[in-house]
Amino acid sequence: QSKETLDALSAYEWLTKLYHHLLRHTKEGKEGYQYLKDRGFTDDVIDTFQLGYSPNSKDFIVEFLEKKGFHRQSMVKAGILSSNEDNVVTDRFRGRVIFPIRNHLGKTIGFGGRTITDQKPKYLNSPESELFQKGKLLYNFDLARKSIRKKQEAVLFEGQMDVISAHKAGVMNGIATLGTALTDMQAKLLRRYVDTVIICYDPDNAGFLASFKAAKLLKQVGCAVKVATLPNGLDPDDYIKTYGADRFHHEVIEASDTYMTFMMKYLKKDYNLKLEGDRIQYVENVIDEIALIERPIEREHYLKELANEFELSIETLTQEVRSRNEKIG
Ligand code: CTP
Ligand code: MN
Ligand code: MN
Ligand code: MN
Ligand code: MN
Repeated sequence: QSKETLDALSAYEWLTKLYHHLLRHTKEGKEGYQYLKDRGFTDDVIDTFQLGYSPNSKDFIVEFLEKKGFHRQSMVKAGILSSNEDNVVTDRFRGRVIFPIRNHLGKTIGFGGRTITDQKPKYLNSPESELFQKGKLLYNFDLARKSIRKKQEAVLFEGQMDVISAHKAGVMNGIATLGTALTDMQAKLLRRYVDTVIICYDPDNAGFLASFKAAKLLKQVGCAVKVATLPNGLDPDDYIKTYGADRFHHEVIEASDTYMTFMMKYLKKDYNLKLEGDRIQYVENVIDEIALIERPIEREHYLKELANEFELSIETLTQEVRSRNEKIG
């Protein structure tokens, strides 16, 4: 690792501690602490995830880093401090609660900062750097790894709030992609540890589309995929707050759909199944998916379901699957 990277790691470590200390023990951090308390965070959870607060001051953090021996310009270059048009150097996270983003070794390599006053953007992240590459990391992987291994299963969320809420509710194998689409690299990383990934994204259009894409990608790398369904308008964090941990376990995580059931539901969105043409296209679409299933029993199961729903013969459908697989070779 280069000198720059080692310096950045060290600065991140200092800042993680400072932000956390400010939140927990000082009047400068009070607003941030209150915000998290209002959202149901306990001290225990705040400590586990090293949550913090950056005071609304132009130079507090800048001066802190300087006192620790870090040079302003190298901190800007590393993406830790920001510099505006007039070359004024500040902490981009000031006035935000801080979520340290840790690598698989538990070292902070970036921050996510959430506004507590409806500023835009809602979340601000450290800029991409040699150290911080969102597409390569999974939030909370370091803490979740043990549970992921043991269960051979991971629960994939959109963001920090959901992971932390789920953790509090006893779901210890939660990780997140921090708002961006799951990448091939993240999918492969997961595959090294688990058989099954349960996708638990927000129940809105963006979330459905992201679930669809993540499901396909995870399938491609050989994971068994399940998709949890939440009632409209409640993301996992909201759900847990509204209905509690127990129902989250039983009615969301354990009740998640298999990949095929999710696909069959999801593909329906694009069609008006009252129309004959649409019905045919939908069935064709689902058969494409079924043709990819390797286990004959599983394949037959879904073919039967499709045959029943659309009053088609299982023979015809089986024929269709066969001809598709011949084409693929
Ligand atoms: N995100 C981001 N930048 C934004 C909005 C979102 O990086 N401007 C990321 C964050 O990691 C966030 C995730 O995308 O956790 C999911 O976004 P969203 O569902 O909007 O946020 P929540 O996780 O529900 O956060 P909150 O409950 O605080 O609104
Ligand atoms: Mn502490
Ligand atoms: Mn969302
Ligand atoms: Mn959300
Ligand atoms: Mn939320």
